[in-house]
Amino acid sequence: MYTNKKLRLALIGAGAIAGSHLTAIQELDSLIGAAICDTNADRAKALLASHSMDMPVYTDYKEMIRSVRPDAVAINLPHFLHKEAAIFCAEQGCHMMLEKPMALNVEECNEIMGAADRYGVRLMIGHTQRYLPENRKARDIIQSGELGKLVMVNDVRLVSYFTDTRPQWFFHQHLAGGGIVMNLGSHSIDKIQWLADSRVVKLKAALTHFGLKGDIEGSGHLWLALSNGATATVSLGGYGGVNRNDTEFVFTQGMLRIEQNRGLSISRNGVYEPVPIEDGTHPFVLQYLDLLGSIHEDAPLAVTAEYSRDVIRIVQTVYESHRSGRELEV
Ligand SMILES: NC(=O)c1ccc[n+]([C@@H]2O[C@H](COP(=O)([O-])OP(=O)(O)OC[C@H]3O[C@@H](n4cnc5c(N)ncnc54)[C@H](O)[C@@H]3O)[C@@H](O)[C@H]2O)c1
Repeated sequence: MYTNKKLRLALIGAGAIAGSHLTAIQELDSLIGAAICDTNADRAKALLASHSMDMPVYTDYKEMIRSVRPDAVAINLPHFLHKEAAIFCAEQGCHMMLEKPMALNVEECNEIMGAADRYGVRLMIGHTQRYLPENRKARDIIQSGELGKLVMVNDVRLVSYFTDTRPQWFFHQHLAGGGIVMNLGSHSIDKIQWLADSRVVKLKAALTHFGLKGDIEGSGHLWLALSNGATATVSLGGYGGVNRNDTEFVFTQGMLRIEQNRGLSISRNGVYEPVPIEDGTHPFVLQYLDLLGSIHEDAPLAVTAEYSRDVIRIVQTVYESHRSGRELEV
């Protein structure tokens, strides 16, 4: 499917998101699963079994890369391990699909980018929002201009963040780099920037730390000014209640509402109507096609390291705005 040039991919980390990377391997003939590594070998084996897949399993990613010599790696590790793993993989000449958020802070992003440059490998960060079907359809509509000028965006993400099933590293600042803003807010920021075709230039934020675990923030209320003149709010709440993941775009001549994984609606006259979504290609297939295009055809990366570092800079500015109580430029 899509291209006949093959890429041998090894997975580092076999946790919650790794299954989506395996799905891309299954769906793309051009992607070959070379090996998988997790410090918990049983987890890696169970994940392979759940996908009816077989590949060598390692518990040490350095040993895996030195023995298997993959062309590329998917780094699906806790955030505090992104930098160390990415620099090692770059030194070994592996192209990288590094999961979002890129690293704990901008300084770490710079170190990763420096290594990728030095060793001449492609570095793509797994910002998935642009590959979700309802987001892609929404972007087509926004770019057509039929709804007029974008005025504002309201994004609401409510979840139970402090669950026992969430891996414990997510609750600690030094391991995750932050809480709901770092982990889920980075998706909201990416979604808004990509759909509005704009960048966050200024923000004000208020956080709370009422979670029963760890030391991370459990909510974030963000006001964002975009480079195209529109403004956005992001409401992130991790204390339970009713789950929501909705983004509403208000234009001069209508509105768009994305209910993530549930659909897209458009209003031209005060009433929302559903928009059919025809293309349900798995987001990770599209994400890997971008990486493959960059490696094989020298196409520009859809999600550059510079962009991903900017998302981290915005998240860090959110934390600084909360600490200082001030509106800040990014
Ligand atoms: N793109 C998305 O929509 C999306 C969704 C979920 C998670 N993520 C991101 O993916 C990354 C992983 O998140 P997750 O939810 O899968 O976490 P997870 O904790 O479920 O998985 C991490 C895995 O890494 C393994 N591990 C830890 N240290 C290791 C080491 N040194 N060597 C090998 N394996 C090691 C753990 O045993 C675990 O299985 C994070 O960056 C997260 O933010 C992205």
